[in-house]
Amino acid sequence: MELLFATSNLNKVREANDVGRRFGVRFRQVRFPYPEVRSESVADVALDGVRFVYPMVKKPVIVEDSGLFIEALNGFPGTYSRFVFDKIGLNGVLALMRGKSDRRAYFASAVGFSDGRIVKAFEGFSEGAIARSVKGKSGFGYDPVFIPAGSKRTFAEDFSLKERVSHRAIAFRLLCEWLANRGSSKPAGRSRL
Ligand code: IMP
Repeated sequence: MELLFATSNLNKVREANDVGRRFGVRFRQVRFPYPEVRSESVADVALDGVRFVYPMVKKPVIVEDSGLFIEALNGFPGTYSRFVFDKIGLNGVLALMRGKSDRRAYFASAVGFSDGRIVKAFEGFSEGAIARSVKGKSGFGYDPVFIPAGSKRTFAEDFSLKERVSHRAIAFRLLCEWLANRGSSKPAGRSRL
């Protein structure tokens, strides 16, 4: 099946299709800008976004909101990750982390789905730590400074790991499992990657 994905970020579409391929779901990018509600929850932003987009496309559609939450900075930049990235970049974030021994952080992703009847969010999280310098060339955004738990390399250095364990991979896998089970009587799964 094909599902519309309202986003301006082609990297997100690629990562979604890496998961969708295994379930026979193809995500097709559509560019419908939507206002992002002010909330610290990626699920709130995704649900609000998809409620805005569905009446315009009138077809089953998803939006995705994501962010990096740094423990030592009380969850900053969180849902404001894109704004902070555009303003101060990776080196700006590393400067905020200078002298901090607690490097723990996590990525969160929420996919908001609507088919006009059902509006639903699927969330994925990826735990890890903020690197001490920028490393690697793959991916986008904060990938060069995020080291997933259990690894020594950033997502930008080990993109195949990102494809398997990222917040986005988990959220899209939950969506695809739910889509696959919708036609059957099986409840939506919560299995992990
Ligand atoms: P939004 O979901 O479009 O609001 O953007 C969230 C921002 O968080 C992105 O622009 C990136 O800066 C950052 N971000 C979200 N997911 C990822 C990821 O998988 N890797 C690196 N940065 C990410």
